[in-house]
Amino acid sequence: MTKLTAFSGIQPSGDLTLGNYIGAIRQWVKIQYDYRCIYCIVDLHAITMCQNATQLGKRSLDVLALLLSCGLDPDNVIIFIQSHVPQHVQLSWLLSCYSYFGELRRMTQFKDKSTNFLNNSNNINVGLFNYPILMASDILLYQTSLVPIGDDQKQHLELSRRIADRFNSLYGRIFTVPDFYVPKFGSRIMSLLEPCKKMSKSDFNQKNVIFLLEDIDSVVNKLNCSITDSDDPPVISYDKINKPGISNLLSILSGLSEVGIYDLELSFKGKKYIQLKNKIIELVTYKLKKLQKRYFLLRREEDYLYEILSRGAEKARSEADVTLSKVYDVIGLLKSNTGFKY
Ligand code: TRP
Repeated sequence: MTKLTAFSGIQPSGDLTLGNYIGAIRQWVKIQYDYRCIYCIVDLHAITMCQNATQLGKRSLDVLALLLSCGLDPDNVIIFIQSHVPQHVQLSWLLSCYSYFGELRRMTQFKDKSTNFLNNSNNINVGLFNYPILMASDILLYQTSLVPIGDDQKQHLELSRRIADRFNSLYGRIFTVPDFYVPKFGSRIMSLLEPCKKMSKSDFNQKNVIFLLEDIDSVVNKLNCSITDSDDPPVISYDKINKPGISNLLSILSGLSEVGIYDLELSFKGKKYIQLKNKIIELVTYKLKKLQKRYFLLRREEDYLYEILSRGAEKARSEADVTLSKVYDVIGLLKSNTGFKY
């Protein structure tokens, strides 16, 4: 039986967080043998925010090494850099002619990034506005059935589905309409000290965030200081509204141990918060130590990393061409008489 295709993307950044791991990367690893997985390091999306030119390329390699250290098998999945496959940008222009200003203007990520004056006020560029169309192109080029994403990307995925449906209803079944997969727990890991907001690498207070490559002593320290709850007697149960701190800790533990929240609640019945924290500290430090050891070995093997990327891009380009060629045809663009070469 042929496997369905799963596609996802991640921005190149060396400082990925525990939230990125539990919310996204962990799912990528989990499904890698059940689906035909295509994973993309989205450097073109990254430049919608200001980037340091001497760091950007290096960061793509950092992320690749991190993904491999988290357990992705490069012999089994296709991993590549978005800018190495020009079809993404080509399809993006075409799809932009089938996307509406009004629907893009409603995207909350655009609203956040264009109004958050601390981050981006002097750089509200059109790329930021078109971001979801490039994302739709990433996904639709590969006839993707499943897109594992974090909670914050759901709205973009709904837009991708809408664009695919709209195009298909005009031209026939050109694109597979993708479903998304957001895990029930852990798709949104919250800040350690302010568990009502998402864990974010750009948090002003770095004690809110755990980085995958962070020094282990510092990780232990942050976890020790994380917020629990003040109810007496203490109860370890999942209740996002009334017990955000404990719920977040349970999500972290569930994400790392792959034990369901309800089983965790049972096993911590009658126990103290400190026991929950200690268990998390034990598991986080075990996982991060292992991951970091692999990362620092792999990151030095640049020839190996480049080889994975060139293999990935080659496969991606030839697959992407199949879809792009169909799109050219149905729109009615003239191909040269030597075939589909541009
Ligand atoms: N926008 C996604 C994020 O910031 C990254 C991304 C780009 C992506 N293209 C994608 C995710 C395609 C899934 C599918 O997390």
